[in-house]
Amino acid sequence: MPLLLFLLLPFFTPPPIHATAASEFIFNGFTTSNLSLNGLAHITSNGLLLLTNDTKEALGHAFYPAPINFNKSSGSGSATPSFSTTFVFAIVPQYPDVGGHGLAFAISPWKDLPGSMPSQHLGLLNDSDNGNSSNHLIAVELDTVKTIEYKDIDNNHVGIDVNSLISLNSSTVGYYKSTMSAFTKLNLMAGDPLQVWINYDADSTRLDVRLAPAKTPKPAAPLVSSTVNLSRVALNEMYVGFSASTGAGSSRHYVSGWSFSLDGEAQALDLSRLPSIPKKSDTKKGSSVVVIVALALAGFSLLLILVLTILFFCHKRRKRFQEVKEDWELEYGPHRIPYVEIYKATKGFDEANLVGSGGFGRVYKGVMPKSRAEVAVKRISHDSKQGIREFVSEIASMSRLRHRNLVQLLGYCRRQGELLLVYDFMMNGSLDRFLFEGKEPSLSWDQRFKIIKDVAAGLLYLHEGWEQVVIHRDIKASNILLDDNLNGKLSDFGLARLYDHGSNPKTTHIVGTLGYLAPELSKTGKATTCSDVFAFGAFLLEIVCGRRPIDISASNEDMTGLVELVAEWWKKGRIVDAVDPNMKGSFNEEEAELVLKLGLLCSHPEPTTRPSMRQVVQYLGSSARMPDMSPASLSGSIRFASFDAFSNDFGASCPSTAEVTSDHQSSTRTDSH
Ligand SMILES: *[C@@H]1O[C@H](CO)[C@@H](O)[C@H](O)[C@H]1NC(C)=O
Ligand SMILES: *[C@@H]1O[C@H](CO)[C@@H](O)[C@H](O)[C@H]1NC(C)=O
Ligand SMILES: *[C@@H]1O[C@H](CO)[C@@H](O)[C@H](O)[C@H]1NC(C)=O
Ligand SMILES: *[C@@H]1O[C@H](CO)[C@@H](O)[C@H](O)[C@H]1NC(C)=O
Ligand SMILES: *[C@@H]1O[C@H](CO)[C@@H](O)[C@H](O)[C@H]1NC(C)=O
Ligand SMILES: *[C@@H]1O[C@H](CO)[C@@H](O)[C@H](O)[C@H]1NC(C)=O
Ligand SMILES: *[C@@H]1O[C@H](CO)[C@@H](O)[C@H](O)[C@H]1NC(C)=O
Repeated sequence: MPLLLFLLLPFFTPPPIHATAASEFIFNGFTTSNLSLNGLAHITSNGLLLLTNDTKEALGHAFYPAPINFNKSSGSGSATPSFSTTFVFAIVPQYPDVGGHGLAFAISPWKDLPGSMPSQHLGLLNDSDNGNSSNHLIAVELDTVKTIEYKDIDNNHVGIDVNSLISLNSSTVGYYKSTMSAFTKLNLMAGDPLQVWINYDADSTRLDVRLAPAKTPKPAAPLVSSTVNLSRVALNEMYVGFSASTGAGSSRHYVSGWSFSLDGEAQALDLSRLPSIPKKSDTKKGSSVVVIVALALAGFSLLLILVLTILFFCHKRRKRFQEVKEDWELEYGPHRIPYVEIYKATKGFDEANLVGSGGFGRVYKGVMPKSRAEVAVKRISHDSKQGIREFVSEIASMSRLRHRNLVQLLGYCRRQGELLLVYDFMMNGSLDRFLFEGKEPSLSWDQRFKIIKDVAAGLLYLHEGWEQVVIHRDIKASNILLDDNLNGKLSDFGLARLYDHGSNPKTTHIVGTLGYLAPELSKTGKATTCSDVFAFGAFLLEIVCGRRPIDISASNEDMTGLVELVAEWWKKGRIVDAVDPNMKGSFNEEEAELVLKLGLLCSHPEPTTRPSMRQVVQYLGSSARMPDMSPASLSGSIRFASFDAFSNDFGASCPSTAEVTSDHQSSTRTDSH
């Protein structure tokens, strides 16, 4: 057996690689090199070191397996020794002129550069350790991408890096054919083999980098150089090798030969023995494959763009019409109206369809797409999650309330932070437009008396006509809507609950409108049928006198409540003088007197003295007689009732139509429908 080996030995060509001691080595091709490889790096069958292939966002490392002794104390003096290295490389981009990302010669304490990242980091460093002197990294980069972050000069440069990817010095790739000749530019991405020479002189601490096309002699002048004392950078033991990375674009990074030497010029490479570097991705057959693949890719991307566009628009549409629906809402299913329908009905909440805005939100007119029914959509912003469940349950039950004197709630829809209530549309809008704004012709007595009876009937239904008592909480002229025949209908019933539910349960939160708020509310904070009756009383006086419950046009001193005014007239014996002068005296005095007195009775400060809505309806319909009253029986406490209780809290400057809450917030409301 040993004999056989001896016989065979002469036929073995000496290995093309000759690895000597750790202070000097040369590889003319890497077939038996024993390099320490990681990432994508591998040795090809013909002996090329391929650091990366076309895989994107990847890196490859190839280091000499043994450390180089950079021991400062050994050898001559106390500085890092001089060294010299040369290698032949080629960068073959996947697509012409689109490089990714580059190649570097590196001297590092690590063979595998732990934590290093691909793409612009070149497999050398990462964002967090870039620039840190504890990297002990020296590199010469051959970079084919301009990274602004690292102050790269272009997408075709050589740079000297110490601990950082921001080069100490860099230059566009090229060379001087001779000392006298002009600079000849070279393209790193041309795929041609190029040779690099790196020399470090310990005495001058100068690092020179030269580059030239392979088979061209070493240029006299360096392409880039830096003065950097490597004794301050290098450790005693360092590894030398290569790193390369790909990013969004990719290149094949090849090294075909490498020579290194400590303290002396690196042995020259035997260029004729270096394995040849395939320039294009493959053979001719391959290129036609590339064309087909490229075409297929183009087609595929087009399709992808199309699909993505469609998905994008679907998503946008879905988002636009996205609703909030929770399990507990299932039982209210029939009362839910899809947002798309509401959106279509109001033409996307077009400003032209806006018919009112106020404390509860904006109101839009719309026409439901299927039924062609005219609707009013109340858009209420509601960001408090708390209480929405109770509120929706109430809304849903309210849409079961049916009475000819209630504005019919048709359904609701809930979106993120928004609640939409859909009602029957009321042609003539709110009553206050007729009473105060002067835009509409003045209502006759008969019309007013009819509206009064309508509202009373609606309120009676809320209080008594249904399985549970519904408190309106905010009766006033602006919440009474008129249909095309001027029938009065109560709207917004129960809406005040929304504010109630959303508020902190520890603080009482009175909702309503100043002038319509029963005095006991400021003490108990609890809305009752009696406080509704109080507000109804204010409404009676309002509609008969054609004035708001508290006159804001008056100066602060003589700002008197409507209740007080009417009581004054009554004391003078002519209560009907309080009647709206717009009616020019043509009214039924008997009825007017009844309504005014009823208004005062309903406004009584003592809740128990106020009639119930059933009684109110009976008095108005003359099926029962109102109890006899004298102005004296009321006047003692009227002032207190009308607004002292509130003026203490809110000051007499409060506008009459301010919405009042006990936490002193008020906002002007001009709700109309
Ligand atoms: C690149 O090399 C890796 C590891 O050698 C291999 O798994 C991968 O398939 C190669 N990719 C391409 C595109 O050649
Ligand atoms: C390859 O290098 C490693 C690390 O220096 C060494 O342990 C191993 O013996 C080497 N193998 C060969 C075949 O040279
Ligand atoms: C460096 O060299 C000095 C002197 O030759 C030696 O004493 C020391 O152990 C060496 N240090 C290392 C880390 O090799
Ligand atoms: C960066 O590299 C260092 C090693 O130099 C490593 O410890 C660190 O975890 C890396 N950071 C990131 C974010 O990868
Ligand atoms: C440099 O790296 C060391 C070790 O990883 C770390 O302790 C130090 O905080 C880093 N310095 C800076 C400025 O990031
Ligand atoms: C950069 O390198 C060039 C070429 O060697 C040299 O002329 C120039 O002085 C260097 N610049 C710095 C800042 O080192
Ligand atoms: C380089 O640094 C080392 C260690 O700090 C020092 O001993 C040496 O004198 C420096 N060399 C030059 C040329 O400044």
